[in-house]
Amino acid sequence: MNNNYIFVTGGLGYIGSHLCIELLEKGHKVVTLDNLSNSKITTLEKIKKISGKKVEFFQGDIRDEVLLENIFNNFQISGVIHLAGLKAVNESIDKPTEYFDVNVSGSINLLKVMQKHKCKVLIFSSSATVYKSSESLLDEESELGPVNPYGQTKLIIEQAMSSICKSSRKSFISLRYFNPVGAHSSGLIGEDPKGIPNNLMPYISQVARGMRKNLKVFGNDYETPDGTGIRDYIHVSDLVKGHLRALDFAYENSGYFVFNLGTGKGYSVLEVAKTYEKCSGQKVPIIISQRREGDIALSIANPSKANVVLKWTAKKGLEDMCRDSWKWEKRISDSQS
Ligand code: NAD
Ligand code: WQD
Repeated sequence: MNNNYIFVTGGLGYIGSHLCIELLEKGHKVVTLDNLSNSKITTLEKIKKISGKKVEFFQGDIRDEVLLENIFNNFQISGVIHLAGLKAVNESIDKPTEYFDVNVSGSINLLKVMQKHKCKVLIFSSSATVYKSSESLLDEESELGPVNPYGQTKLIIEQAMSSICKSSRKSFISLRYFNPVGAHSSGLIGEDPKGIPNNLMPYISQVARGMRKNLKVFGNDYETPDGTGIRDYIHVSDLVKGHLRALDFAYENSGYFVFNLGTGKGYSVLEVAKTYEKCSGQKVPIIISQRREGDIALSIANPSKANVVLKWTAKKGLEDMCRDSWKWEKRISDSQS
């Protein structure tokens, strides 16, 4: 029997919870750390209910070196998937110090403890926000240039990982996620943002269930076919599968690697709203509003490298994303009524 554990940081969050389920279902043992700053302890039970297996859970902060030491001392950890961190672009502009502290210092803390325990495999949640805006498909060699503190923290962590791999034999991988959306097909777990959602799909979900009156479309004067912003939305279940392929790859190859996780297809804000209406059977009234500061017209991945090297391809389409998101949203709505 394999006694090795995968250590998932931020494992009770939106992506982390789906990842824990996928790992458990594929036979991995999982230990996770989360400070619950953006997640709920009830997710732990839901992970068990869906997978039929238990995750070892520690409540605490990624910056707490003693706690990390304790986890590495008590579990035989063969690889780490690092998701814990802060992720709201606007908040990062208001609180840059906090973002650099949690995201950068937290990651460096983790890297130090991994080094001490000779743990050589790390998969990191990076983001398409590390790229400079571009009119063409973004591949891993595209120009970098994050314009907000959140994106800057991701790039700094990537650079630290790359440097560490140059000086010692490690297998570190940065996965640059495009726009993860959707929820688990069971409808039991999904994204549940605190306050007013910043991101498109959670906002549309709340409009569809009547919690908000309309969707404000941030600009219809972009140079895109319908004038609204185009993004590469990826179903969270496809996204987490990419992590398992990355993990397999890391066990077999040493060095530092970067992969885009996206579908290669882009949809406009209006296309997403229309598809959501179709899949939910609910109205999503829209009003055209001003452009949101910092937004770009288009962001689409070229996922060929992950397709070829990791043998991973996103399978789910926009309708699957909207349908699963709606299933989850209805459940939140029912639990609150
Ligand atoms: P999330 O907020 O749902 O999950 C992050 C988890 O980390 C939460 O459960 C939170 O409680 C925990 N956490 C935060 N600070 C912590 C700390 N100091 N110590 C321990 N735990 C802490 O976010 P998510 O959407 O699941 O994103 C996971 C990762 O993926 C993040 O690193 C994020 O930057 C990255 N990412 C997300 C997206 C996206 O659109 N969701 C896109 C690209 C990259
Ligand atoms: C998508 C499109 C908006 C809300 C952000 C982060 C990125 C990543 C994913 C973490 C854009 C439009 C949105 C609304 C709208 N997260 N929109 N009305 O901005 O591509 O990426 O989330 O790494 O780092 O920057 O995603 O979902 O906010 O916006 O019209 O109420 O929807 O203008 O065109 P974005 P998003």
